Amino acid sequence: MWGGRFAEGPAAVMREINASIPFDKRMWRQDVAGSRAHVTMLGERGIVSADDAAAIRDGLEQVAAGYAADGVPDDLAMEDIHMLTEARLSAAIGPAAGRLHTARSRNDQVATDFRLWVRDATDQVLAALDALDAALLARAEEHADSVMPGFTHLQSAQPVTLGHHLMAYHEMVSRDVSRFRDNRARGNLCPLGAAALAGTGFPIDRHATAAALGFDGPTRNSLDSVSDRDFALDYLMAAVQCSLHLSRLAEEFVLWASQPFGFVSLSDQWSTGSSIMPQKRNPDAAELVRGHAGRISGCLVSLMVTMKGLPLAYSKDMQDDKPPVFECHDLLAISIAAMTGMIESATFRTDRMRALAESGFATATDLADWLVREADVPFREAHHITGRAVARAEALACTLDKVPLADLQAIDARITDAVYGVLSVDASVASRRSFGGTAPDNVRAAIRAARG
Ligand code: ARG
Repeated sequence: MWGGRFAEGPAAVMREINASIPFDKRMWRQDVAGSRAHVTMLGERGIVSADDAAAIRDGLEQVAAGYAADGVPDDLAMEDIHMLTEARLSAAIGPAAGRLHTARSRNDQVATDFRLWVRDATDQVLAALDALDAALLARAEEHADSVMPGFTHLQSAQPVTLGHHLMAYHEMVSRDVSRFRDNRARGNLCPLGAAALAGTGFPIDRHATAAALGFDGPTRNSLDSVSDRDFALDYLMAAVQCSLHLSRLAEEFVLWASQPFGFVSLSDQWSTGSSIMPQKRNPDAAELVRGHAGRISGCLVSLMVTMKGLPLAYSKDMQDDKPPVFECHDLLAISIAAMTGMIESATFRTDRMRALAESGFATATDLADWLVREADVPFREAHHITGRAVARAEALACTLDKVPLADLQAIDARITDAVYGVLSVDASVASRRSFGGTAPDNVRAAIRAARG
């Protein structure tokens, strides 16, 4: 394809290090689509004849059919998917194939293909996040009233509901969706026609090719067009943040599925056994989602370091942009799908959650708040009084609402029988009606709002 000025072919290792076909063959659909749009525009502008344009379009369909039927071979001699497609086109239709690359370079071609690929990947992630969100909302609705311990420092803090807890993840997913949508909008410009780096003297119509490929318009600067990989970095950054959210949910499932917690049992379909310990039901998928977040972060770091300090315009370093993006996408897609499956099929042990919520003196804040509200005690003093009540409950080995009134009044005479109305976990969660709080009615309202 470029051998005119060379007397010798490349060394075997040169050929191997240069070749990207083993991974960029994944973009064959985008490559064919880009070429189709390009040659159609060349035909319309009279840069190639209508007959040649039609022959090239037919030939591209044949090449695509061959890829679809037999896959794309790792033909290192062809370097990359762009060269292989052109070689196949040439084999299919003869010399007219050589007109396809008029007013184009592989630099704008690969930038276009990759943008199309990342756009498709973004759409797939958005659809997957939609399914994850639907699962979260369904389980949250089911458990809007289910009391569980809320933690800070992983210490029992205040009772919340499981619905509220799951809705926290809905918020994270919503932010992920918004990030991927922003990326899609910002990156939806077409580099095709920037050619090698300087644009072209041929009377091309970049607006036409951009429109044909579903872009909002052409990119504005030819140098930036072939050297920009922000769209890929944006994808990776959104993916990293999404994977961090998934890893936190995964970690909670790992904790919750452990015997000391016992908050959840994962379905058989989402558990694995041990080859030696017959009793085991391990949460491997959750652990792998937690682990994949590390690898996904590595993909982002990889491309950031590749791009750092590269001069304009195209450098071959940039060929290394694709493996981390492809790897990241595969890891993210399977992580989202796995979390969705686990959430949909998990059995939440609400009896166990309630028992733990009741055992950790989690309504101590409610007692302090009651003193402030009903007896006009300053909060700091109420905090101290409540601390003594908790110590008394601990000494009696009972929950706060089981400490006899006489014991409470011995600590502070202003405490009356009415205090027991706020000491249950149900009363505690029901009282937290401030906007965004855990009260079941709030949770139901949040779910309604989320469903629009
Ligand atoms: N395989 C190359 C890549 O992935 C295509 C662009 C090559 N351009 C060039 N001038 N060598 O980046």
